[in-house]
Order: sequence, then C-alpha cells, then structure tokens
Amino acid sequence: MEISISRNRFLWKPGQYCGRNGDNMAGRRHSKRQREKWKREFERFREINRQIRANAPDILKSSNFHQTKHYIQHGNMTVNDHVLSVARCSIALDDRLRAHSDRKALIRGALLHDYFLYDWHKPDKEHPHRLHGFYHPGVALRNALAEYELTEREKDIIKKHMWPLTVVPPMCREAWIVTAADKWCSLLETLHMHRGHGAYSGM
Ligand SMILES: [Fe+2]
Ligand SMILES: [Fe+2]
Repeated sequence: MEISISRNRFLWKPGQYCGRNGDNMAGRRHSKRQREKWKREFERFREINRQIRANAPDILKSSNFHQTKHYIQHGNMTVNDHVLSVARCSIALDDRLRAHSDRKALIRGALLHDYFLYDWHKPDKEHPHRLHGFYHPGVALRNALAEYELTEREKDIIKKHMWPLTVVPPMCREAWIVTAADKWCSLLETLHMHRGHGAYSGM
C-alpha cells in the first residue's frame, strides 16, 4: 500500500515546500540549515512509513482496512488516515521517550485501535452508536481478533486506547504510547489543524 505524504502533516508540512534553488512559495530563499532540517524530517517520515509497511503488510493490504477509507473519524480525516497518523505519532513518541517498545506491537495495535468498521456519525435504528466512545474499543478488538492473531500487547492497546473512559488503565508501555498519540492526533483533527481529504466515495 502506498502511503501518501501530502495527506499527513504531522511530521512534514508540504506548505513549506522548497523550490529547486531553495526558494519558498513567496520567493524568499531558505537558509541551508532550514533546507537540511526539512530533508532530515522528510527522511525520518520515509523511515517511519517504511517501518509501518514492514511490520503490518497484511493489515495494510486487507479489504477491511481499506474499508476504513469510507468512514470519517474527526474533521475530514478518515479512520484510515487517523490510524496511520496515530501509528506515525506513536513511533515518534516511542523514539523521543526512548521507551524501547515492542515496535511491531506498537504499529499493529495503532493501526487496529479503531477497527470498529462503521461510520459512527451515521446512527441507524439497530446501532445508534450513542455510546461509541465507550464501546468501540471492544468492537475494534472483536473485529481485529476475527482477522488477525494478536499478541497480549496488541490486545491491550486496542482495548485500553480510550482510557480513562475504559476505566482500567493500559498495562503495557505500548498501550500508554498509543493512548497518548491517539489523544494528540484526535485533538489536532478536531481542531482542523490536521486535515485529510475526506471520505473515499469510490468502490
Ligand atoms: Fe478510538
Ligand atoms: Fe483513534
């Protein structure tokens, strides 16, 4: 699966695009140090995406995971964009804290933490989604278990990511990191500081 760079502004801002001679959009010349900083950020972004692809090829290829492109999470970010952002943010946080988490569990848990597979903005008679915030971790865990063999850490990440709504706190560092990353990404998306392209309407 190709992971789009322009959709995600968490680590890299395309608005700061640097021209061939180091000119920005306004025609001002950026300093060498600034250009080097962007280059490092871009390389880092590519490395994070590489880790995601290497640790979760089965998830990224699954039709249910692609289905999440049809559902909006916050603002105009789809669930698919959201979980990829949370996975990237979790990796960055893990590195920043030098927490040395189980990287595979961290990535897979982050990608599956909102695997509820419905549009929570569209209530129907059978599923009013009124208490979505409380119930969706359980639904996500059931859906993920039906498709993948999960480790105890991955289960904990999915089950507890809505803490403190889910009363029992996370029991491993990976779950704490994804819980924090999820809250940060959700805040940016709700404030429209982190934007997507809206729900995919094709088949
Ligand atoms: Fe969630
Ligand atoms: Fe989430």
